[in-house]
Amino acid sequence: MAMAGSAIGLGNIWRFPYMVGQHGGAVFILIYILCGLLISLPAFISESLIGRKAATSCYNSLDRLAPHTKWKYTGYLAFFGCIVVASYYGVVGGWSAEYLFQSCVHGFHASTEVEATSIFNSIAGSVFEPLVCFTVFLALSVLIVSRGMTAGVGRFTKWSTPMLFVIIVLIVAYSVSLPGSEKGIEYLLKPDWSKLTFRTCAFAMGQSFFSMSLGMGTVLVYSSFMKKEESILKVSSLTFVFDTLFAIIAGFAIMPAVFAAGIPPGAGPSLVFETLPYIFTKMGLDSPVLSRGASVLFFLTIFLAALSSAISIVVVCVEHLVDRHGWTRKKASWLFFFAALVLGTFCSLSFGLLSGVTFRGLNIFSICDTMASNYVMVTIALVFVLFIGWKLPKPVVYDEFTNNGTLKVSARVFPLIHFIIKWVLPLLIVVIFIFNLL
Ligand code: PHE
Repeated sequence: MAMAGSAIGLGNIWRFPYMVGQHGGAVFILIYILCGLLISLPAFISESLIGRKAATSCYNSLDRLAPHTKWKYTGYLAFFGCIVVASYYGVVGGWSAEYLFQSCVHGFHASTEVEATSIFNSIAGSVFEPLVCFTVFLALSVLIVSRGMTAGVGRFTKWSTPMLFVIIVLIVAYSVSLPGSEKGIEYLLKPDWSKLTFRTCAFAMGQSFFSMSLGMGTVLVYSSFMKKEESILKVSSLTFVFDTLFAIIAGFAIMPAVFAAGIPPGAGPSLVFETLPYIFTKMGLDSPVLSRGASVLFFLTIFLAALSSAISIVVVCVEHLVDRHGWTRKKASWLFFFAALVLGTFCSLSFGLLSGVTFRGLNIFSICDTMASNYVMVTIALVFVLFIGWKLPKPVVYDEFTNNGTLKVSARVFPLIHFIIKWVLPLLIVVIFIFNLL
């Protein structure tokens, strides 16, 4: 449940729909599913194997399993990667808090479609409101980790995640009934093969890694708490299935409404936050009570999903400082808070005051996002994969994967999984990575 809590978050509800919109609709979804199965799932297994075998933080795990080698320095890269992800993730978490607040206080009523979709600009484009919400969101995540209350959040997400699922399915039903939504459905189902490029593959792989919380040390650290009787194959497959299903359903909740509202599908990070007020405004015309209730519940559950993912990012850094440098949990948490606060402030302001600061058309927020998921996460995941495929002896990997040969299904699929991890995965990742760079 904790793994699913980390995986299912803004990556599914906010990032996936806008990636689909920016990178060609159905083709992106197909590649995303393929990448998930062929790359992310075995990469998840690799990271999980390292974590459970060594049972400690990222740096120490690699040091313990391969003493006196350089593998352990990956821990530092994961540490900095987490600070970057937490900073812009916190900004989006702040937006969801602000939308929750708006739904509670006055709901979403716009007189025109343009007004509904421009709510985002007035919220994210200002200076103080989004900054305050971001700070509160970040502080809350850090506070929960510093007090060791992550188990409490786990208990929360046990019911909030299924609830989010139910609400999203209801929104799908509503969204596809809107006039003009057929084009959105077609966009999600009919592949336009001209969009099939290495760039699309690179972004699909990045999205898949981001969504499964890979290449940040999160899966490693969470697996370090996993029981020895647990099946790594089962946990990985379940996380993959739930996470992918959730993303695709979110795509069907958002994209038909995007087309119905006339929002450009390639709008980027603002896409979902422009579309949701439109959905709830329209719903309010038919039934104000339903619209109000649905929007409050929806943003509350998104907020909790975002929080459970943010916590898993904070944990990686805090565990590193506690395990490796002997800091107290409190001191480590607050150092993390200030580092992410500084970077996140720039990310937040990049939708207003600093919107002119761009590099190749990307604002500061999108630079951090692209850097982290397309480059840092992919690099770290590759290191973990190489570690399992080439560094750890095969019998050691076999024992960990099959719980010393006791898991029959795991034992049967082991040769295939090991082959993929050793040969296919590194090749695929490197090819996509290099061609995307070129
Ligand atoms: N997987 C999370 C999401 O989909 C984000 C995340 C990325 C969490 C990396 C931890 C590490 O929202």
